[in-house]
Amino acid sequence: MSYSRILATGSYLPERVMTNAELESLVDTSDEWIRERTGIERRHIVADGESTCDLAERAARAALESAGVDPAELELIVVGTTTPDKIYPATACRLQARLGAAGCTAFDVQAVCTGFIYALGVADKFIKTGEVKRALVVGADTHSRLLDWSDRQTCILFGDGAGAVVLEAGEEPGIYSTHLHADGRYEDLLYVEGGVPLGGGEIAQGHAYTKMRGNEVFKIAVRTLRRIVTEALDANGMQPSDIDWLIPHQANIRIIEATARKLDIPAERVVVTVAEHGNTSAASVPLALDVAVRDGRVKRGDNILLEAFGGGFTWGSALIRY
Ligand code: ACO
Repeated sequence: MSYSRILATGSYLPERVMTNAELESLVDTSDEWIRERTGIERRHIVADGESTCDLAERAARAALESAGVDPAELELIVVGTTTPDKIYPATACRLQARLGAAGCTAFDVQAVCTGFIYALGVADKFIKTGEVKRALVVGADTHSRLLDWSDRQTCILFGDGAGAVVLEAGEEPGIYSTHLHADGRYEDLLYVEGGVPLGGGEIAQGHAYTKMRGNEVFKIAVRTLRRIVTEALDANGMQPSDIDWLIPHQANIRIIEATARKLDIPAERVVVTVAEHGNTSAASVPLALDVAVRDGRVKRGDNILLEAFGGGFTWGSALIRY
């Protein structure tokens, strides 16, 4: 059996930066409240006309360039996204056409903030079974398009972005294991109304907004992430001390710190980008990974635990050797 190995990473953030001060002029909030409760200071927001596929393409090209891989060599493209450009074709198919990788397998995975971990888990299985040798995995979202800018409980949390990795088959890990979970019973706590109309007919015009009972999501996220980091370590006979870097989903600094405490991982070994990026949904984990690879913190041979929790509920982890 072969393993998948991350050859290189890439990411992209839209140019426009929105600060907490700007949000103060939109809703009854304050920079101090947002920093204290979430750790977020600013986030990047897409420009009018800029799409999820635009962000995905920039991140994918950066990863392919760093990997020295020609898009024509790709055998699989998986995009984790909850904000596809269209209902169909899949964003992965649009991305494939732009990259010039026609013919390979390409599809989207929709697991909200766990989207990248799901996409990575699926691509890893394609490689482990020997079906493909080289894959592009992207997490990309324009979650700002799903926000009610008059709802202070949600509009302060999210930003836009994309992250990508190029995977290649190898004899050694690479990816030790991935663990993917969902519990659809929690739909009422976090959802976006809207979609294909049940009676057929025209797609309803108007806005689809993120609805969240934040406090309840918070408690379940903390509880669940504590369990999942243990699951990943146990599956590989590892201890928290074997982990060089924890790269968590960047939703809220308090959730990140609670997970790190459970693992007894000191703050210096946790990659945190939530202050600058906010919650970029499926992009948050690969964005943070790319930041830490490019600034030299993550080195070849490091053991990294990636984890995420999001709408669905979905949650998952990946234990990898970079
Ligand atoms: N500014 C000022 N006050 C606010 C704001 C705001 N933006 N938002 C809420 N408040 C108020 C509330 O109205 C409440 O006031 P009250 O005490 O007078 O009733 C008070 O602040 C406390 O509200 P809580 O909701 O209890 O605040 P909490 O500490 O839970 O923080 C937050 C809210 C930041 C949303 C937090 O619950 C959270 O991060 N939840 C998890 C979100 C998450 O992780 N999502 C992950 C998945 S996202 C995805 O999958 C798409």
